[in-house]
Amino acid sequence: MSQDWVYSDILKEHFMNPKNILEDEAAFKADGKGSVGNIKCGDQMMVVIKVENDVIKDCKWKTYGCASAIASTSMLSEVVKGMKLDEAYKVSPKDIAVKLGGLPENKVHCSVLGDKALRAAIDDYFKRSSQEHRIQEEAAIIICQCMNVTDKDIEAAVKDGARSYEELQYETKLGTVCGQCKDKAEDLLHQYTHLYGE
Ligand code: FES
Repeated sequence: MSQDWVYSDILKEHFMNPKNILEDEAAFKADGKGSVGNIKCGDQMMVVIKVENDVIKDCKWKTYGCASAIASTSMLSEVVKGMKLDEAYKVSPKDIAVKLGGLPENKVHCSVLGDKALRAAIDDYFKRSSQEHRIQEEAAIIICQCMNVTDKDIEAAVKDGARSYEELQYETKLGTVCGQCKDKAEDLLHQYTHLYGE
């Protein structure tokens, strides 16, 4: 069976007919705009929103990402319309994957692009409307229990240039005791490399 058929019908529909694509950036008077990703590896995402009375009235996006990033952000842009900002801030890649009828495990990292770009757009709106106090730092999750290394530490190491597991270990010391964190750390390394470059 072809690998393509692991995608659900809903996901295929959002890929074939993506909703809310930003066609004309100048014409869309955005109240908030967020961009994440790295053009070099093809995964770049921009999300723009219009806000009224603390509710997302419109949400559009554009990407050079893969099928999963396109379908996830198409679904995300539908889901958050009409949502209060605080609620939209909490929508996770998992919520979107469920709505799409599941995403192949190795594709879930693609869907974080839309999610991060949306939060960046909301943060941008908070800045533009003098509500900086509402910007939330994402809570850090401990990945390596032995060395107390979090996902934020891994993100920082990748931003600093770590690209291999060995470089990540050198920077953070994760995985140097029991080694049980290796798989999770490698997943995050892969995900952040997509976001921050080759
Ligand atoms: S959990 Fe990372 S070395 Fe033990």
